[in-house]
Amino acid sequence: MWKKFFGRGKDNADVAEAAVEAGRVPRHVAIIMDGNGRWAKAKGLMRTAGHREGVGTLKKILRKAKDMGIEVLTVYAFSTENWKRPAAEVDFLMALFSEYLQKEVRNMYEENVCIKFIGKTNELSPALQKEIAAAQELTKDNDGILFNVAANYGGRDEICRAARQIARAVQKGELTANEIDEAVFENYLDTAGVPPVDLVIRTSGDLRLSNFLLWQAAYAEFYFTDTNWPDFSPEEFAAAINNFAARDRRFGGL
Ligand code: FPP
Repeated sequence: MWKKFFGRGKDNADVAEAAVEAGRVPRHVAIIMDGNGRWAKAKGLMRTAGHREGVGTLKKILRKAKDMGIEVLTVYAFSTENWKRPAAEVDFLMALFSEYLQKEVRNMYEENVCIKFIGKTNELSPALQKEIAAAQELTKDNDGILFNVAANYGGRDEICRAARQIARAVQKGELTANEIDEAVFENYLDTAGVPPVDLVIRTSGDLRLSNFLLWQAAYAEFYFTDTNWPDFSPEEFAAAINNFAARDRRFGGL
């Protein structure tokens, strides 16, 4: 709707001005897309309608992030804890991820997006795993933005998986225990080679991290908003980025 007021083309530049012009755009933004259910309930709709609307929001935010020059966008699509939801909702979400890939992967390729899934993707259905592999393969050389989708992801689980792999490397004699430092550890995470998270955005009012990117967000700034994810606009995203740009980050120093 804001396009109607600001006019196409100029709008993105205007909204993003402060952060972009100051050269203080975060390299890596992570989003907890919360509030789909509450959005739907407030409208008297099924929770699934909220998730579907959330896909539309995600498409807009991805485009905006790329336009602003953000290098990495990581979104929390499904946590290791989300399996506790009713089977019908889990099935709907899985079908939605599949539909999203089928419909969007070509556009992502053309818009220079590199898509990658993080988390225990080997526990997703074989069909979805195939679609994920195809999407990752098609877009792997794109360098407009890295778009990480966390699916069956948990920060603690990711750290355990990394530790297990490191233990195996030590057992095989490829690494010694003393060689394990933060830089080595990072290489075994799903986000190996990706810059740390600068900014975590969580929509819908809850003030917690919910097992998302525990290692990567060690020095992240946080932006919380009451807006439910389906209502989260590119304009509010740009406002969050501008808010980040004005912060003083000390990383434990003075
Ligand atoms: C949290 O809202 C949202 C989720 C668990 C699912 C997120 C999924 C999407 C936004 C769909 C798009 C994703 C992709 C990658 C296509 P909630 O259900 O916990 O909301 P509530 O807290 O209001 O109940």
